[in-house]
Amino acid sequence: MRTQVAIVGAGPAGLILAGLLHAAGIESVVLEDRSRAYVEARIRAGVLEHGTVELLERAGVADRLHREGIVHGGINLQFDGERHHVPLQELAGGRTIVVYGQTEIVKDLIADRLARGLPLLFEVDDVSVHDFDGDAPFVCFEHEGTRHRLDCDIVVGCDGFHGVCRPAIAEVLRTFEREYPFGWLGILVDAPPSSEELVYAHHPRGFALLSLRSPTRSRLYVQCAPDEDVAEWPDDRVWEELRVRTALPGWSLNEGPVLEKGITGMRSFVAEPMQHGRLFLAGDAAHIVPPTGAKGLNLAAHDVGVLADALVAWYRSGDREQLDAYSDTCLRRVWRAEHFSWWMTSMLHRHPDADGFDERLQLSQLRYVTASHAAAQSLAENYVGL
Ligand code: FAD
Ligand code: PHB
Repeated sequence: MRTQVAIVGAGPAGLILAGLLHAAGIESVVLEDRSRAYVEARIRAGVLEHGTVELLERAGVADRLHREGIVHGGINLQFDGERHHVPLQELAGGRTIVVYGQTEIVKDLIADRLARGLPLLFEVDDVSVHDFDGDAPFVCFEHEGTRHRLDCDIVVGCDGFHGVCRPAIAEVLRTFEREYPFGWLGILVDAPPSSEELVYAHHPRGFALLSLRSPTRSRLYVQCAPDEDVAEWPDDRVWEELRVRTALPGWSLNEGPVLEKGITGMRSFVAEPMQHGRLFLAGDAAHIVPPTGAKGLNLAAHDVGVLADALVAWYRSGDREQLDAYSDTCLRRVWRAEHFSWWMTSMLHRHPDADGFDERLQLSQLRYVTASHAAAQSLAENYVGL
């Protein structure tokens, strides 16, 4: 088998890259180790920056997103028993965000690729990447009981944090990491959202987030311990914590059947550089942010947008300049998002060993962010991803 670009991983990064390359007339093969059903059911992010929406338009898969995605011009920050609206659109030069589930993006991209008859293999095993130091890299894998070798010009590791591509170049990488002493328990609920726009709540019992997926589906999170067993969180306990942490006079939380429940650990991680020879890393394979800034999916999309442009320039004119600059170009945005995500996370969560001094600093920061135009503008610009 031979292709121009071999893409490992069919998450948002791999699928968007394949779509952008196809739109530019560049061939690729996407290799995914899970099943289609598994990948399409994995519930993760929900907030899209304007730039991510534009990339999905360029990849030709934004029709349903435009029909069903919900445009938001603001978010709410809640603390000390008050909810403060942050008018993102007004503060960030008219930019908005769109609420549309990562699962829906993944479904749209897979359906589009398969309808066009383009190569996307699920349930591949034992993927390994080779010879990216030279001009003729290749990828080995097993599919339906047969070993294959895929020769290519470029290999792109879009295989997430636990993939095989980053470890393949571990000796040339420098990594930076921070773990947080808490996690998020998330539920998907069959009930209309209780607040039109997202609510990020800081509370003495811990952080809570009210988000949504559609006019009839809510997505809600509560801070928990990082290693918590989901069995310790029956629905009644989750609802009780959500009610207490988001309570406001005259407002109530819409409740309904819990359709899914899961716990996510929180981590910041960056591997530098994001390339070596003809192997490029994109998305979670290269960096992780805690979800409080809603940046993970958007960074993955940005990486592959930069890479697609660089590959188009290289194939059209043989010019390597953009390809060589790929890592530096991406890392500037990655580190901005790392800082913003760390800052939002630190400001909004309850730290298990915090004392009264730490708590008062958090509240002071939250008051400043909601009272100062300049501080609110900075939050808004980072959140919408200028
Ligand atoms: P992934 O989505 O991880 O995709 C990588 C793909 O590669 C997967 O399909 C995987 O099966 C495949 N793969 C792995 N190894 C191999 C291999 N050896 N061979 C072939 N294929 C392989 N972000 C937010 O903004 N908000 C959230 O609420 C949020 N929640 C999250 C919850 C969880 C549990 C996780 C893990 C992440 C969450 N994120 C969230 C982050 C966001 O979902 C990710 O940043 C985004 O999925 C990154 O896309 P990606 O394509 O780079 O990686
Ligand atoms: C979500 O809707 O899943 C979501 C929204 C905002 C975040 C994280 C997750 O910061």
